[in-house]
Amino acid sequence: MPDFNVGLVGCGAVADWHADRGYAMLTDLVRLAAVCDTRPDRAEALAGRYDARPYTDLAEMLANPAIQGVDLCVPHHLHASLALQALAAGKHVLVEKPIATTLEDAERMVALAAQRGLTLCVSEQYPFSTPFRRARELIQAGEIGKLVTVRTHRVGYLGGIWMRDGWRQNATVAGGGMLLDQGCHYTSIARMMAGDVESVAAFTANTRADWVGDDTATLILRFKSGLIGEALYCWGTRTSDVGAECYVYGERGHLQVDSGAPSLVLYRPDLPDGRQILIDAAEPHDVFARIIEDWTLAALGRRAPTMPGAQGLEDLRVVMAAYRSARSGRVEPVAAS
Ligand SMILES: NC(=O)c1ccc[n+]([C@@H]2O[C@H](COP(=O)([O-])OP(=O)(O)OC[C@H]3O[C@@H](n4cnc5c(N)ncnc54)[C@H](O)[C@@H]3O)[C@@H](O)[C@H]2O)c1
Repeated sequence: MPDFNVGLVGCGAVADWHADRGYAMLTDLVRLAAVCDTRPDRAEALAGRYDARPYTDLAEMLANPAIQGVDLCVPHHLHASLALQALAAGKHVLVEKPIATTLEDAERMVALAAQRGLTLCVSEQYPFSTPFRRARELIQAGEIGKLVTVRTHRVGYLGGIWMRDGWRQNATVAGGGMLLDQGCHYTSIARMMAGDVESVAAFTANTRADWVGDDTATLILRFKSGLIGEALYCWGTRTSDVGAECYVYGERGHLQVDSGAPSLVLYRPDLPDGRQILIDAAEPHDVFARIIEDWTLAALGRRAPTMPGAQGLEDLRVVMAAYRSARSGRVEPVAAS
């Protein structure tokens, strides 16, 4: 018998990943017992595949005492209100990234979870991803020498199912554009490699006629360590080879880290070809199982969570400082709200 019953809210694109790559692989530990979507067709379709109970009303699902955890896979502007509602009902919460669309909302979520003794986690996968974790270990082991700088990179073209419902490409509705959507992920990567960020200078731009708000952004980061780095975001280019998601440069060499193959390459002049492929495979799709397992075990009191709300809040602080900088034209401190 599974130890933990979850109700998943928002049966759209990413919900299928949580279900098929997550709950389906963790059936001894956790049961997808209920699903909820304001669109009954989507709730019923997902419920049917998992023998879960479909709901269209969150309050009704939250009133079900068998549900211990709520997994939120809804649009960004709904994260905070639905998470606060679930926490107030005494449920543990896993919320998709970004934790919220304002720092105040994210702080409220973290505070309520702490006050109620509930586990709030954020579904950001890079802290669970093998190549990224291994890269951090190699940096700490001195394999590239003293750390010099870091660059993250999220470039491509968004379309298809990700734009199906219209909210994501409308920053006015979603509470932010591409930078809000992807910024938490790539901030978490930068922080894994180089530590917390102290201040940010940023520009945002709109390059697509079918997009309202930022679809492109560039950030210069100053880390608390004194190091500097950069992040480039763009959803406006149809190209087949976009480059790796992260480059970490040290005095002796550098690491190229990606979720596609090869996912971890060490470049150093003393190596036979000047480089060594350390992981010659794409990151397996089971990273969502690791996220859900971590949240479940934390909620059951069996481990400290890897990606608690406080970490999601720290990533959001960098994104919000970048938006402030893009508006003000100044370097903005991360700590300020
Ligand atoms: N971690 C990742 O790699 C990753 C990847 C994709 C999406 N996401 C995140 O997942 C979340 C959802 O994105 P998506 O692409 O699946 O969106 P989507 O538009 O495909 O799905 C959202 C679903 O929520 C439903 N919904 C809207 N309001 C609701 C409400 N009040 N109650 C219940 N259901 C409601 C919609 O009907 C829709 O089915 C976002 O936060 C997004 O950033 C994360």
